[in-house]
Amino acid sequence: MKNLKYYFEKAKKEKFAIGQFNFSTFEQVKGIVQAAKNLNSPVILGTSEGESKFVGLPEAVAMRNVLRKKYNVPVFLNLDHGKSFEAVKEAIDAGYDMVCFDGSKLPLEDLPAMPAHAGQAGNIKISKKVVSYAKWRGVLVEGEVGRFGTDASKIYQEEFKITEEFLTKPEEAKIYFAKTKVDVLAISIGNFHGMNVMGSVPRLDLVRFEEISNLLNIPFVLHGGSGTLDTDIRSAINFGVVKININTEIRLAFTNSLKKQLETNPDEITPYKYLQEPINEVQKIIEEKIKLFGSENKI
Ligand code: G3H
Ligand code: ZN
Repeated sequence: MKNLKYYFEKAKKEKFAIGQFNFSTFEQVKGIVQAAKNLNSPVILGTSEGESKFVGLPEAVAMRNVLRKKYNVPVFLNLDHGKSFEAVKEAIDAGYDMVCFDGSKLPLEDLPAMPAHAGQAGNIKISKKVVSYAKWRGVLVEGEVGRFGTDASKIYQEEFKITEEFLTKPEEAKIYFAKTKVDVLAISIGNFHGMNVMGSVPRLDLVRFEEISNLLNIPFVLHGGSGTLDTDIRSAINFGVVKININTEIRLAFTNSLKKQLETNPDEITPYKYLQEPINEVQKIIEEKIKLFGSENKI
């Protein structure tokens, strides 16, 4: 089976994106992998730090291995938003294909030690450490420059509205990429975690993205894919996005369907009966995304 690097290069050349679909239960994984099999598409399973803790890193690796073999489709595994070197190291050691180091809250460069504080390692320094640990173990690294907003729903814990200062600055992206040599770079161009901000969906700043992609001809990642307009998704892929992260839409499809099952069949106590419909709903949403991202028949 071809590795993830091969699929990112193919995606960049042929202008499509691979979906990273986050999960916290085996049923969600089933829906995701069945969709990939149905449409002959590579897929990436994602676990955030919270999802990783709940699922377990070795358990996530085992699910990937078993389903990759059973369905014979390229299924990869990414640690999503690892906030420290230790967190990403654990995922690398467990057998993940890729890790995302999220140093977006850190200053780009180290802060010097001053009488008042002991100094702080910057995003670049820790990313370099992650890359050197990951590279010779054959694991890919995703870096982040700029911060993403978060909607006000209960799905994400923090509420954070994006302002100009948190959007990716083209020059900073260039410096970060040149110094760290990450494999793919996540950028903040108005994308946000969740489904809407104050009742509406903000558009992507495609002018900024064009500026970044003119300066840096590399594979990019788009976070916060849920709820993003189809037309913005297509433009982003055109400017070099090779991976799009989706979480909220999967959580909603699964949870709403499960609630409905339990409400309409209050006496049903057999999990394999009431969990089938939520699996189908996840599969449906993943198939829509695979078609939108253009990764159908790209195995
Ligand atoms: O890292 C995960 C994603 O960026 C998911 O964002 O919940 O808005 O789809 P989303
Ligand atoms: Zn994200």
